[in-house]
Amino acid sequence: MNIDYAARRARLAPQLGLTDEVLLVGAGSPIPRPELSEQHLAFIAHQEYFYLTGHAEAIGGIVVYDAKEKKWTSFVPAVTEEQRVWDGAEQLPGEVLGKFDGWLAARRGRRIAMLGAPLPGVAADAARTAEVREALKHARRPKEPGELAILRRGAQATAEGYAAVQPFLRPGVSERRMQIELEAGFFRGGADETGYHSIVGVGAQSAVFHGSPSTRRVAKEGDFILIDAGGQTDRYVTDVTRTYVAGKPGAFQRDLYAVVQNAFRRACARCRPGAEWKDIHLAAAVDLMAGLVSLGVMKGKAESLVEQDAHTLFFPHGLGHMVGLGVRDAGGVEPGRTKDPRPSLRSLRMDLILRPGYVVTVEPGLYFIPALLNDPKRRAQYRDCVNWDVAGRHLGLGGVRLEDNLVITEGEPENLTAAIPLGL
Ligand code: GLY
Ligand code: MN
Ligand code: MN
Repeated sequence: MNIDYAARRARLAPQLGLTDEVLLVGAGSPIPRPELSEQHLAFIAHQEYFYLTGHAEAIGGIVVYDAKEKKWTSFVPAVTEEQRVWDGAEQLPGEVLGKFDGWLAARRGRRIAMLGAPLPGVAADAARTAEVREALKHARRPKEPGELAILRRGAQATAEGYAAVQPFLRPGVSERRMQIELEAGFFRGGADETGYHSIVGVGAQSAVFHGSPSTRRVAKEGDFILIDAGGQTDRYVTDVTRTYVAGKPGAFQRDLYAVVQNAFRRACARCRPGAEWKDIHLAAAVDLMAGLVSLGVMKGKAESLVEQDAHTLFFPHGLGHMVGLGVRDAGGVEPGRTKDPRPSLRSLRMDLILRPGYVVTVEPGLYFIPALLNDPKRRAQYRDCVNWDVAGRHLGLGGVRLEDNLVITEGEPENLTAAIPLGL
């Protein structure tokens, strides 16, 4: 299903709260490698520019809207012979970029809102820019059918990667080998990139949220293996986590996994239109704490532990985020809100009311993280909330996280990544 970007721009314009401003949205420029001046990091057009144009490779491109004339214009770089030869580039449709300065000069004195990558030498109104950015973000939260179709393809490609890695979840295999098999599966399944740097962690490394795979090997039967990875298709990202055990899990691992799985299932079921994301997050935290109390790791009432923020010892991140055009899509706060100051919500990437078409990750986890659990300040503060000797016995075990991508609908959520079997 092709996305009609001109139709999208026409639909969006009245939602941006513009009156008489000029809106400029820049694609950005490639970043040179410091040590090799003729080489650049791979160019990625700014998310806001891409959303409005679909041009992934328009280096320096600018799409503009004159709110008085109610007219969009897209300025695109004139492709050079060198780019045709070296990059196989083709001319994009639109006005040539050289005409942009004249277009802007003809509107001298008008208020400017500037989204995307900032344009050098252009003075924008910072307050209006922030307001328009929020309006655009809010408008692009519900995904269109064309976007959902891309995400479904991405989820399928991601499932191929997870299927491909299954024979390698055993002692002696390195994180790197698993990464290779996983990513090869993504590409075979139709992904054109990985959505982000794949995370593969074995043993204690499974509790390192953004750890990079290395030559580290699964040391022994019973070690955790956590994989957080996904494919990217047409710039849309799938973001999945599964936790496995090499061989047979121990009793505590099985119980810990069951606690996370229960919180995960319940959180997914709560993803209904009208639900407050922060309530779903806190309810998941309560479920996780109730589980840790039943396992003898924590002490007290689950609700009270969450009120005291004690869950952040074992569940220090938010329940999830919006995903789509990038691994962090249009998160943030509900229009008219400011960031909720409650410490228990500090790590949340969004404070939104769920609506049909929103695509969110749901990713509860429990981890034994030495940097948190060996911290004397935390040990003192939460002296009576944790059975510290039990927690201490599991330092080095790592952690468990499950993550799926859900589309909010009028009824039950559609789980895009449900075809990837849960680990245990
Ligand atoms: N893949 C990083 C995350 O789950 O947010
Ligand atoms: Mn993830
Ligand atoms: Mn995620």
